[in-house]
Amino acid sequence: MPAALVTGSSRGIGRAIAERFARDGYDVAVNYVQSAQRARAVTDAIEQETDAEAVAVRADVGDSEEAADLVAATVEAFGRLDHVVNNAGVDQHVYTEDLSPADFDRVMDTNVNGAFNVTKAALPYLRKSAEDDAESAEDSDPAPTPSITNVSSILGHTGAPVECHYAASKAGLLGLTKSHAGDFAPEIRVNAVAPGHVETDMTADRTEEEKAAELESIPVGQYGQPTDIAEAVAYLRDAGFVTGETLNVNGGELMR
Ligand SMILES: NC(=O)c1ccc[n+]([C@@H]2O[C@H](COP(=O)([O-])OP(=O)(O)OC[C@H]3O[C@@H](n4cnc5c(N)ncnc54)[C@H](OP(=O)(O)O)[C@@H]3O)[C@@H](O)[C@H]2O)c1
Repeated sequence: MPAALVTGSSRGIGRAIAERFARDGYDVAVNYVQSAQRARAVTDAIEQETDAEAVAVRADVGDSEEAADLVAATVEAFGRLDHVVNNAGVDQHVYTEDLSPADFDRVMDTNVNGAFNVTKAALPYLRKSAEDDAESAEDSDPAPTPSITNVSSILGHTGAPVECHYAASKAGLLGLTKSHAGDFAPEIRVNAVAPGHVETDMTADRTEEEKAAELESIPVGQYGQPTDIAEAVAYLRDAGFVTGETLNVNGGELMR
């Protein structure tokens, strides 16, 4: 079975991606930093509902050593690594005049450095997987090339006055995506998905007034669900002719 690592998959969008990969026939490493019980609930659900194996691994992706250990634990569990989804992310609502340099760094560390750290550690294993696939493809249909999907945000395109560090981190991920897509071609594809407003813990602090205002700006008239983003990531995983691209999934909000 091919294997995937989804960072930040104890809840929200990451959980939906991990569950989608398992249903699609991937063994999955479920990464978390604090929510051990929730990560265990995800691995239990995967093992009960699919034929996939799942392992929960604690690691702060912003720490390069912990990120390397996370990749090593994934390969130790499954013997290979075929896809990485850099999904772990944090946000914070604060205007620049009240934003401390430490908080700016904290958001960057998780959202951008985390993707770099995990990608760098995963690279040799993804290359090995590409080599193995090339050999086995002589007898059968070619498998999709190994790939990396970075979870950016609509705010990486638009900016965000009340969370400049978050928006900068998500724009940074788009640069990382295109740079790595060129660097790692042709063996490994690298793409990004840029969600709009999705109902998760990250967006749960909105007041009813704020929600109504947000929904006004979304042409389809509803928030996205984590499974909407998982669908886009699964497409990018399997789309062998797509690399260096950003798939915008936002209910039409970006065209406003
Ligand atoms: N929700 C939205 O509207 C939206 C829109 C655009 C983009 N996004 C992006 O989509 C991704 C997932 O968002 P979400 O809404 O599902 O967020 P969420 O519900 O807050 O979940 C965040 C996940 O990231 C993990 N995490 C946080 N810091 C980490 C670290 N340093 N190392 C490893 N894991 C870490 C958390 O683990 P613990 O459970 O252990 O804390 C959790 O699994 C993020 O990158 C976010 O920026 C979300």
